[in-house]
Amino acid sequence: MRYALVTGGSRGIGSAICKALADDGFFVIINYNNSREAAETVKKEIEANGGQAELLPFDVADDQATENAITQWQDSHKDDYISVLVNNAGIRMDSVLVFMDKNQWDKVMETNIGGFYNVTRHIVKYMMTKRYGRIINIASLSGLKGLPGQTNYSAAKAALIGATKALAQEVAIRKVTVNAVAPGFIATDMTKDLDEDSLKSMIPTGRFGKPEEVAAVVSFLASEKASYINGEVISVNGGLYT
Ligand code: NAI
Repeated sequence: MRYALVTGGSRGIGSAICKALADDGFFVIINYNNSREAAETVKKEIEANGGQAELLPFDVADDQATENAITQWQDSHKDDYISVLVNNAGIRMDSVLVFMDKNQWDKVMETNIGGFYNVTRHIVKYMMTKRYGRIINIASLSGLKGLPGQTNYSAAKAALIGATKALAQEVAIRKVTVNAVAPGFIATDMTKDLDEDSLKSMIPTGRFGKPEEVAAVVSFLASEKASYINGEVISVNGGLYT
């Protein structure tokens, strides 16, 4: 059995990734923080499609809670390990910097880049021991280009890209790859407050992307076919110039 853990897997891009990896034959571990019902629905949809999934709730921003959950999973799966990790959980709390309060800065950092640290260091050690693994970090156009009103989010996603490149070089010799996917505007809860009609004119493809279009790239990076791609950032943004 090949196990894949997807953080923030209960909705949006995360749920599309869970379903794509289940279609690829992975036993999917769906992480969520609060949305148990939505996570249950993703699990049921995977099972209805002939796949396998389980839920693993924890807050990626909470180091101790993350360690406890992953340790418990590992203790009850002594002969197994998580060979694919998708760090997808993320939040945005936008504001221009002059009006950004400390909580907005800290929360976005703790979830988007703190979450990467909290989860990855527990999982990558098994991948290194087993000499195979795939880590895929969901970054953002915002982390490549910087977007006004998102200094916190752009900084966190740029940090995630830096961490991707550094870790890739640490673990490549053990056949572990670490890559990032940088979506542009994707239609999910995170972007529902944005006006697609006014924003789509700057996207060459002329529309927001779909979660499944991000999941397709993750599916490829998670496969054995992607063995020589390491430390890379792949944009999925409809041609939006970065
Ligand atoms: P979403 O808001 O629909 O989903 C985010 C998921 O992360 C939710 O399931 C949420 O419960 C989970 N999450 C948030 N904080 C968490 C925590 N502390 N612990 C565990 N889970 C937590 O957003 P969407 O659009 O699906 O975003 C997924 C990823 O893609 C995020 O990292 C986001 O930054 C990134 N992204 C999204 C873009 C978009 O246009 N929708 C563009 C670029 C990047």
